[in-house]
Amino acid sequence: MTTKQGLDDRARRILTQNDRGGYTVPTDGLYPYQWNWDSAFAAYGFAQFDTARAWQEFYWLFKGQWDDGMVPHILFHRTDPGYFPGPDVWGCNGPIPSSGISQPPVAATFMRKVLEKDPQAGLAHVAELFPKLMAWHKWFMDWRLDRGAVCVTHPWEAGRDNAPDWDKAMAAIDPVGVGEYTRRDTSHVDASMRPTKYDYDRYIWLVQLGRSLNWDQAALLEKNPFRVADPTLTFTLLRAHRDLKVMGQAIGADTSLIDSWITTLEAGAKTLWNEEVGCFDARNAHTGEFSGVLSNASFLCWLAGVDHPRMRAHLTRILAAVPYGIPSLDPAHPEFDAKRYWRGPTWAVMNTLIGFGLEDEGLTGEADELRAQTCKAIARHGFAEYFDPLDGSPAGGGSFTWTAAVWLGWAGRSAAAVENEGVLG
Ligand code: GLC
Repeated sequence: MTTKQGLDDRARRILTQNDRGGYTVPTDGLYPYQWNWDSAFAAYGFAQFDTARAWQEFYWLFKGQWDDGMVPHILFHRTDPGYFPGPDVWGCNGPIPSSGISQPPVAATFMRKVLEKDPQAGLAHVAELFPKLMAWHKWFMDWRLDRGAVCVTHPWEAGRDNAPDWDKAMAAIDPVGVGEYTRRDTSHVDASMRPTKYDYDRYIWLVQLGRSLNWDQAALLEKNPFRVADPTLTFTLLRAHRDLKVMGQAIGADTSLIDSWITTLEAGAKTLWNEEVGCFDARNAHTGEFSGVLSNASFLCWLAGVDHPRMRAHLTRILAAVPYGIPSLDPAHPEFDAKRYWRGPTWAVMNTLIGFGLEDEGLTGEADELRAQTCKAIARHGFAEYFDPLDGSPAGGGSFTWTAAVWLGWAGRSAAAVENEGVLG
């Protein structure tokens, strides 16, 4: 019998089991290191039952911050041969062995949520972490803008590795000289749920390029053929700026610089509007061409405080079209693939961010529906990395930290509402 209490207990156990003594791995085996945005979700999960542990997660993340402000997407605290590409492939010189790219900056957003759970002791933590967040946000503003929208320099930087958003920009790369390598991901999970070899050759080629340029941002700006203005980074950073401002005010810091960043990104977000498809879309910064993709990242607009009537219409259509939304790709798109990672499956973490935005926008009916769909996927199919939007079946890795975290913080709140559907009881 599945009960709310039983699911809460399992979720807490997953977080505790994936804790490596201060930082949390996304899941044992497939992802044995500290991932940037996974960590912020983990902190949110821990904050529901152990705020002290939640703060620790942020300190461990910022241990890896580079001198230029960048916070890497993976920190290799302890080498593990089960993951490729490891620290030897990235060849970085940060304070902790790491990757050379970043990831969606959701830390400030979740830090604010942790602060709300721990308003007294939390302020001292915010005071200590605030300058680090400022430096990281500034790094994005200095190096990653195109017409005010935030660009990815590697698909992994968006956190949506093989999303169709990158297809055209990836096709322009000829991964010549990439050499032989052995993937590890497909020894942990079914290859049909993972990116293809075509994708991987280009992922590794881009890593080799960054390494050959010593991860120098000015050189990368000039030489990297892959530069795509991305809704994930633009919307999460815009939201993170707003949350950082609130925390800055709470500790009496000067927040005027953040105001100017917000103005820049508000204008930049508009440049992601693809009138033809009628959605916020990824845009190739080199060619100006849109991807033509309505993804789950398009729906992060409300998280950033940006609304559009056509986005509301897409949301209504998609929530009615599949039982376990929101799929990472519009199910009406010809490339939709219900099981392949970021080309169709539903991700509980993206739903959580979208849900925050819907709640803030006052779209409570849609927020409740999305939370209920997410709740049902987890209650019926477990704490999977992601889910098939058509039948809810679990895909990718299991016992996943961020799925457990968002159950505790967000999705589990719908348990009572879905009880009469025989999901729980
Ligand atoms: C995959 C996901 C990425 C996530 C990582 C660890 O690479 O695409 O978003 O951070 O796994 O869970």
